[in-house]
Amino acid sequence: MTVRVLFVCLGNICRSPLAEAAFRAEAERLGLDVEVDSAGTGDWHVGHPPDRRARAVAARNGVDIGHLRARQVSSADFDRFDYIVALDEANLADLLRLRPRGACARVSLLFDHVPGREGEAVADPYYGEDSHFDRTWAEVTEGARGLARTIAGDG
Ligand code: 4NP
Repeated sequence: MTVRVLFVCLGNICRSPLAEAAFRAEAERLGLDVEVDSAGTGDWHVGHPPDRRARAVAARNGVDIGHLRARQVSSADFDRFDYIVALDEANLADLLRLRPRGACARVSLLFDHVPGREGEAVADPYYGEDSHFDRTWAEVTEGARGLARTIAGDG
């Protein structure tokens, strides 16, 4: 059965497209049947491709994310996805406010799936230096591995 996973950050141009790419690669490696997407809580970048620094770090790690386009999370996503995964605690709080009563999706923080890193945020690299994007890639990769273990365990 296909498991549907949505990653959510603020702008959907830095962290969540990278999380989407890292998780897709990990799911493929493990042979998990997944459908993966990402979205932002904000609408400033709707329709835009990922930030060029995010595209660059993905490319350095062998993944092309240039085709992705930002969109804003909507209440319909809570019925469409099995897991909605926030990159930081502000994204998580926004998602919990938006979640319709009785919605199916399990809402969590990415690092809650990494033993010992529960409650931690994937820091927003948007106003940082280029090197922050390498850290973001490392963090979303670690989170993606943990999330894949959660999903494999839940199944
Ligand atoms: P993201 O990064 O949430 O990881 O996509 C950001 C992108 C854009 C803005 C903030 C964070 N912004 O303020 O426009």
